Amino acid sequence: MSAPAASPRAPWRATVLTLFPEMFPGPLGFSLSGQALASGIWSLATYNIRDFGIGRHKTVDDHPAGGGPGMVMRCDVTAAAIDAARKADADLPLIYMSPRGIPLTQSIVRELAAGPGVMLLAGRFEGVDQRVLDARQAREVSIGDYVLSGGELAAMVLIDACVRLLPGVVGAEESLAEESFEEGLLEYPHYTRPREWEGRSIPEVLLSGDHKRIAEWRRSERLRITRERRPDLFAKLQDKS
Ligand code: ADE
Repeated sequence: MSAPAASPRAPWRATVLTLFPEMFPGPLGFSLSGQALASGIWSLATYNIRDFGIGRHKTVDDHPAGGGPGMVMRCDVTAAAIDAARKADADLPLIYMSPRGIPLTQSIVRELAAGPGVMLLAGRFEGVDQRVLDARQAREVSIGDYVLSGGELAAMVLIDACVRLLPGVVGAEESLAEESFEEGLLEYPHYTRPREWEGRSIPEVLLSGDHKRIAEWRRSERLRITRERRPDLFAKLQDKS
């Protein structure tokens, strides 16, 4: 008897709630993530928050309570978009992209990539009314300590980081094992041909063919680079050992 055909894995799902759905897939439609999207390893759905706006003008924002600059996305409008998206994707964790969120790390990326997908709320203006984040239990995630003009680019960053971890996206799975942040270390430097370039040569050990020495050199470079550039990561290593 022949083995049953492996059932194709359900795609990892990215659902994005945004005022600018035309921005997607954007850069995610290229290269590894684009091929994986086309081949059904992951899927993308967007909801235009404007469609849930109020009145003839489809208003989505209003002045901040208590005064101050800018506009705030209304809780009722944003909740209507979330609720519509949840009808299709009740199982996806809701994440609000925000500079005030917990910092996105490779460990959070790994956790999200291992699940069914993500539902990402991309804010504009000053942000969204806090009540909708509380009522719909959104997790807030930041991609770094700087402020973007909206959550869309941040959503793309999060999706890209997850998609490349899905099985079948990055050809050589072992290339994921030694990249930056695995084992809490940054990656070692890479070299390729030509052997000599502008008076610079490839470190001798990499041409030696001695795989043990090469692995030791790479490990010591990972440690050196992490210590020099990211003392915060290096200190965590010391704590663990
Ligand atoms: N929206 C605006 N700035 C952001 C940031 N740094 N991270 C996530 N979402 C954002």
